[in-house]
Amino acid sequence: MVNDWVFAISADEVEEEDVMPAEIDGWDIAIYRAKGKFYATHDKCTHGDAYLSEGVVVGEVIECPLHQGRFCIKTGKALSAPVSKPIEIFETKLEDGKIYVRLRET
Ligand code: FES
Repeated sequence: MVNDWVFAISADEVEEEDVMPAEIDGWDIAIYRAKGKFYATHDKCTHGDAYLSEGVVVGEVIECPLHQGRFCIKTGKALSAPVSKPIEIFETKLEDGKIYVRLRET
């Protein structure tokens, strides 16, 4: 399955400026909708034991629910303390109202 497009979630389950969790082949993935586009990252924060899908999306930024560290959902870049390590991002595509994610080996 790695490197293949895998179904993640229906597009209508993710509201604008929101995030939803999706478990894909045992991976915890967060699916975002921002400015009409879809993005995907690992769901687990790189700082601690928290899931970004429980955080808040502001524009193209996700704020972690535990210590309010921020990541860019387009690039995965860590934007504010206490996070310093980027979050892994994945390609997404929209087809027939469904979001697909391309996982890859790291
Ligand atoms: S666990 Fe995410 S900022 Fe600390």
